[in-house]
Amino acid sequence: MKNTLVTGGAGFIGANFVRYLLNAEPGAHLYNLDALTYAGSLENLKDLPDPSRHTFIEGDICDAELVNRIMAEHAIDTVIHFAAESHVDRSIHGPGAFVQTNVIGTFTLLEAARASWAGDFSGRRFHHVSTDEVFGSLSPTDPAFSEATPYDPRSPYSASKAASDHLVRAYFHTYGLPVTLTNCSNNYGPFQFPEKLIPLMILNAVQGKPLPIYGDGKQIRDWLYVEDHCEAIYLVAKNGKLGETYNVGGGNQPYNIDLVREICSILDELRPANAPHAALMTHVQDRPGHDRRYAMDISKIRQELGWTPRYDIESGMRATVEWYLDHQDWVKSVLGDEAYAAWLEKNYAKR
Ligand code: NAD
Ligand code: TYD
Repeated sequence: MKNTLVTGGAGFIGANFVRYLLNAEPGAHLYNLDALTYAGSLENLKDLPDPSRHTFIEGDICDAELVNRIMAEHAIDTVIHFAAESHVDRSIHGPGAFVQTNVIGTFTLLEAARASWAGDFSGRRFHHVSTDEVFGSLSPTDPAFSEATPYDPRSPYSASKAASDHLVRAYFHTYGLPVTLTNCSNNYGPFQFPEKLIPLMILNAVQGKPLPIYGDGKQIRDWLYVEDHCEAIYLVAKNGKLGETYNVGGGNQPYNIDLVREICSILDELRPANAPHAALMTHVQDRPGHDRRYAMDISKIRQELGWTPRYDIESGMRATVEWYLDHQDWVKSVLGDEAYAAWLEKNYAKR
């Protein structure tokens, strides 16, 4: 990991990972390639532990010339690939950007790694960050997803991630590219863009706005604190078996509606003047094709690499709510003026 290319390192998980890796690998230099879409921000990269070992490059992972140049000029030995369009609701409104970045972008990076490493793979690693959503939706009684669960994506987001996973594995089998993959459940924590459930609910509740619960709110996600995900990615990229996929999850599987109640009760304690925040919960029209339940079997990563989550949902959620309350300047700067308001109008006004 001497010269590591992190893609999408100005986004939520990527920015947390940049911090994690600068601490974990004191000898590493990080090249952070990010297009700074609405989801990425340089605000996420302030106060890094050792900024002299971090170089930010603004650019698109679909730009083959740029990606080839970065690989060659900086003698990249490790790629940790986060960059993606990541929000299911946006993929329903506009799937094209998802196919472009998630499929073509991943293909472009794979080609650049293959060309740059030219068959000499010793000390090289391409780690692809993926999602549990590629496995589809579980019924209440189904066993959790394992690495052997067949892919069954149901949204343009998860379908584009599934396509990228297949390409990554194909490059291992066909060209011997030294790849590893992680498929992780829903993350939460600092720097998550407030379009996703948890930060959206925190910010709406603080402002006294309705808390939109899709459908009956009985959907289940397997929530993981982002720092735990960063550790899992690091361990797999360093010590995981080549060509292998590792499932990563938090073992926290509340109904959405109970998770939102938990956020409200933390806010009732921290901001008692506006209690009860749960009075703001409002059922709205469901998301089309809404996956009902995700759950991850993490026995492989636990047995092979000794990873288990350090945070439970109580400690992780409290840390997250406090972080958003303490970082109102960050919130203002990443939301901007018009684009976020336009997104809220598009996604929520007609529900
Ligand atoms: P995010 O949307 O917060 O960040 C994505 C980043 O990628 C942004 O900084 C954006 O500017 C950048 N980006 C987008 N298109 C780009 C392009 N064409 N070229 C360069 N940069 C581009 O996403 P996230 O939540 O941090 O997710 C990161 C990765 O982890 C994604 O691959 C996602 O599929 C995966 N993942 C996310 C979760 C989750 O709960 N958030 C769970 C499992 C897996
Ligand atoms: P989200 O954070 O968008 O992640 P994902 O769709 O990738 O799981 O949504 C998490 C869950 O919360 C999902 O079941 C959809 C639901 N949800 C709401 O009920 N209301 C909302 O406003 C949002 C954004 C999500």
